[in-house]
Amino acid sequence: MPKLTVVNRAGEEKTIEATTGTTVMEAIRDNGFDELLALCGGCCSCATCHVFVDPAFADKLAPLSEDENDLLDSSEYRNEASRLSCQLPITDALDGLKVTIAPED
Ligand code: FES
Repeated sequence: MPKLTVVNRAGEEKTIEATTGTTVMEAIRDNGFDELLALCGGCCSCATCHVFVDPAFADKLAPLSEDENDLLDSSEYRNEASRLSCQLPITDALDGLKVTIAPED
């Protein structure tokens, strides 16, 4: 199972195991990070699953869709590392990925 390191809004790190075929959002939520609201349940319409992704993994992530890009634009905290975690399927290539939960808009 790929391992992810998640940094919460308090700056605390936790390494979790993720199941391939699920998403980074599901892995974070299912490991007790209540601050990742993921209100729309993963259908790319809420932007409450916003994370910052380790740039070293940028080329291993699913590409950014137009919908995701538009939603990220609604966040005042967007930066070049921003992604919606529900749009990131877990693959073995993501083993070791570090994601930081973005501040709440
Ligand atoms: S969970 Fe709503 S956009 Fe990701």
